[in-house]
Amino acid sequence: SGARPGTVTAGAGAPEAAGRRVAAVSIIVPCYNERVNVRPLVAALSAALAGRDWEVIFVDDNSPDGTIDAVRELAEQDGRVRGILRVGRRGLSSAVIEGALSSSARVIAVMDGDMQHDESCLGRLIDAVARDGYDIAVGSRHVAGGDNAGLANRWRTVLSDSGIRLVRMMLPVRLSDPMSGFFAMRRDLFAQAVPHLSGTGFKILLDVFLSAPRRPRVLEVPFVFRPRAAGESKLDVLVLLQFLAMMLDKLCRGFLPVRFVGFALVGLVGILVNLAVLSAARGLGVDFATGQGAGTLVAMVTNFWMNNSLTYRDCRLRGGRMWLGLGLFLAICSVGAVADIGIARAIFRSDGGWGQAGAAGAAIAVVWNYAVSSTLIWRA
Ligand code: GDD
Ligand code: MN
Repeated sequence: SGARPGTVTAGAGAPEAAGRRVAAVSIIVPCYNERVNVRPLVAALSAALAGRDWEVIFVDDNSPDGTIDAVRELAEQDGRVRGILRVGRRGLSSAVIEGALSSSARVIAVMDGDMQHDESCLGRLIDAVARDGYDIAVGSRHVAGGDNAGLANRWRTVLSDSGIRLVRMMLPVRLSDPMSGFFAMRRDLFAQAVPHLSGTGFKILLDVFLSAPRRPRVLEVPFVFRPRAAGESKLDVLVLLQFLAMMLDKLCRGFLPVRFVGFALVGLVGILVNLAVLSAARGLGVDFATGQGAGTLVAMVTNFWMNNSLTYRDCRLRGGRMWLGLGLFLAICSVGAVADIGIARAIFRSDGGWGQAGAAGAAIAVVWNYAVSSTLIWRA
């Protein structure tokens, strides 16, 4: 039927032939190990959004605590609750992207699944987009009336503030809280931004702003960031590194894939590790060939570990598959090293430049290692 959205409350007495109609707004909730928070969150949404036409989409990355079971249990009782289960992948931003792409509503809202985002602010965010013509409405901790009380400690407050300062310089619009994970947005605009998103790490809103095809109309709505009541934060040092990688990716304007940049940086660290082991071996009086062999091995193992937990964090290998991956990585890098030496030698013979020959060899090796590793080991 061609009825306007929002005229029928989903599930309540809709005519049988029409079936259940799409909600006016989809609330996307990324969640990992939030089992205990699912029920309170849905209850809070029901109260805060009473009289509105909404649905909630939980996107769970196969949490060990069985978050998806709590979602499905509620979904059986309440047609407004949906769940997406992703297996073998991790990531807040990519979870939000998939949730938003599964929505047919005109407006999407994104909020955390741990009750830190104040649901009583949600109605204003939704109205700003659905009714008042804004493209994006952002829940902000840094406009009058907002507060960042919920940040766990002083260290995180300092980090968050300096991150915001850095990011503001790159933004196309003035925003007091570009790091917020609480916002509402026109779904069609979000969908347009998706092909340009980095999709890594925690900062999906920032990603959207840095990728928006045109300057969006933005409203900021203050809210108080509550302390976490149950469960624990998933933000750690590696997430911060992913944040830096995303900014780097934006600076490169997507010319170089962010994974390749990460892989190459890890490779540079590997060279330092190799040199450190070599000089330690020299200090111990070991001969050069043994020292260099040990240095290479230690560097390759370190690189594997760093790539597994950083570059390919979203499809990290564990257990038996990790050991298999390590074996493959050593084999691939050995071929890379042979190619490196071969190419460098050939160039060195033909024109004699040390630097040029070495750089070309290294470039061939890193491209080879990256291309083969990302097809055979980490299938992202
Ligand atoms: N599906 C999925 N996959 N969800 C995840 C993952 C993941 O890998 N990592 C975290 N989440 C979910 C959490 O379960 C939670 O619902 C939400 O994303 C936020 O994660 P927290 O671990 O609670 O993050 P935080 O409280 O430290 O940081 C949040 O607040 C900041 C301030 O507003 C995030 O929303 C940040 O983006 C935000 O800047
Ligand atoms: Mn949180």
